[in-house]
Amino acid sequence: MLFKRKEKIGTEPKHLPRHVGIIMDGNGRWAKKRGLPRSAGHSAGAEALKKIVTEANKLGIEYVTVYAFSTENWKRPADEVKYLMSLLLDYLKNAEKNLAGDNTVIRVIGSRAELSEEIQEQIIKTEKLTEHNTGTILNIALNYGGREEITHAVREICADVQRGALDVGDIDEQTVDGKLYTHGQPDVDLLIRTSGEMRLSNFMLWQVSYAEMWFTDKLWPDFKPSDFRHAVSEFGQRGRRFGGI
Ligand code: FPP
Repeated sequence: MLFKRKEKIGTEPKHLPRHVGIIMDGNGRWAKKRGLPRSAGHSAGAEALKKIVTEANKLGIEYVTVYAFSTENWKRPADEVKYLMSLLLDYLKNAEKNLAGDNTVIRVIGSRAELSEEIQEQIIKTEKLTEHNTGTILNIALNYGGREEITHAVREICADVQRGALDVGDIDEQTVDGKLYTHGQPDVDLLIRTSGEMRLSNFMLWQVSYAEMWFTDKLWPDFKPSDFRHAVSEFGQRGRRFGGI
């Protein structure tokens, strides 16, 4: 699919990223600074996300993947996990009404088995409802871990070998790529992480191999569409060599 630029962005970029990954970090610190509970930070984070998705649609970005809940986030206090799950459920439910207006396609990536039945059912509904939209594809990484994704892919490949559908000698990078939750999607071109942290935190380990990384000290709830445009614009100024010269 070709990029459909619907709006000019500040500094004219040479290229738009096809796929932007976002590690939405800093909700807790945002709340703490205001003397609010962490849940308020997550709630403000969900609002920030809505605006960024609208912006991505306007710019004609094809894929956005956001890190909403990692396989490690279960270690958080039970009430915080519960709140995050209710926020995610709400987001998926409202996507039916709101986000479809943005023409967004919603997909959820990660291991679903550990999620509540209600969330699993809602994921199926929301994915079905938005599947024919033609705007940005928003992957919500939920109970997602890069290592888990690769492990899952290895298991699937082994199963194919075991039932005689695949020869070991035929396994190549495309085979692995085709078994990831993001199969059929391009690699991440631009990875954004907020809140001044400069780690990957088990996010899309395979897909970020050649991603340009962009960091900001802003906390996620403070991250504005103008910041997103700034990151996209800087991406366009960078020279990517993919290992060449
Ligand atoms: C990291 O901030 C953020 C998360 C673990 C959750 C991200 C969730 C949202 C932005 C809202 C819900 C998402 C959707 C898709 C509706 P942190 O809590 O680690 O912040 P801290 O490092 O300042 O404590």
